Amino acid sequence: MLKILFLVSLALLAASHIQSVKSSSSGGSDAGVQKPCARLFHPETGEQLELPSLPEKKKKLLGGAAAGSEGAFSFSSFTVMDGCLLSLWVAGSQEWGLESRSFPSGAYLNQLPGAGVSLTSYQCTCDQENKVMASFRDFKKRHIAGRNENGSGNFCTRKIRHRHIYLNGRCKYLNTFVFADDNDVINVCRNQGYPISNNLYKSRNQFRIVDCKNANQNRRPPNCTYTAQNANAWLYIVVACDNNMLPVHFEGSSNRPPVFGITGRL
Ligand SMILES: *[C@@H]1O[C@H](CO)[C@@H](O)[C@H](O)[C@H]1NC(C)=O
Ligand SMILES: *[C@@H]1O[C@H](CO)[C@@H](O)[C@H](O)[C@H]1NC(C)=O
Repeated sequence: MLKILFLVSLALLAASHIQSVKSSSSGGSDAGVQKPCARLFHPETGEQLELPSLPEKKKKLLGGAAAGSEGAFSFSSFTVMDGCLLSLWVAGSQEWGLESRSFPSGAYLNQLPGAGVSLTSYQCTCDQENKVMASFRDFKKRHIAGRNENGSGNFCTRKIRHRHIYLNGRCKYLNTFVFADDNDVINVCRNQGYPISNNLYKSRNQFRIVDCKNANQNRRPPNCTYTAQNANAWLYIVVACDNNMLPVHFEGSSNRPPVFGITGRL
């Protein structure tokens, strides 16, 4: 599905939270031993770098060393474990265009040629131990739809039934879908959005959305029907972010861009 192409070199300074292990690791799952959140694979040696789950804060990995310098760990692929989300922060990448990318559980290939991309930090969280991930998954279920999908009444009715989106056992009055990749929405909480109050962030760019409005108050789940408003309109979105990291609530949309500059975050 998602095949993200990039190259990252990772310097193993300040490696207190990181263990480099051989691929033939014993695999003994002693109770109490934390399972890894993600594994990075070295292209030639087969060496693995295990990233632990760090629910609170991203870990600074690179203490100013250049990519490819001694002690750097190059990797050709990586795996994010079930129920986990890995976010990587990079410096010097034209290709990424953004400071960070997030990768849900799955296997990823690292194919971009050339040097110049350095991984500066990461955060890896697993939902078993993290409420934020669960909230994000609920947000995603309610509000993120595929880029190729098309907002319409039929779409709304079908999607809301398929995803079982209800409110207190009733048909939800209004539910907005954003047609975008997870990362584009996630980044509204990071460098692609501006804080407008508390934990609310408004997107820097417009997103294609659809507002699904309940068409018949008398119906009960799962038979809710919906009409589409603002179908496929490009609007700025406002989301609530948990700890500036992940969207957990959809606040609304607007045709007005965020006011730039006043937050000092430019
Ligand atoms: C989306 O719907 C509009 C209006 O019905 C239609 O013109 C357009 O071709 C559709 N796009 C896709 C990708 O299905
Ligand atoms: C949903 O619709 C079906 C088919 O019309 C009907 O049999 C069922 O009773 C309805 N359920 C509710 C909760 O209204």
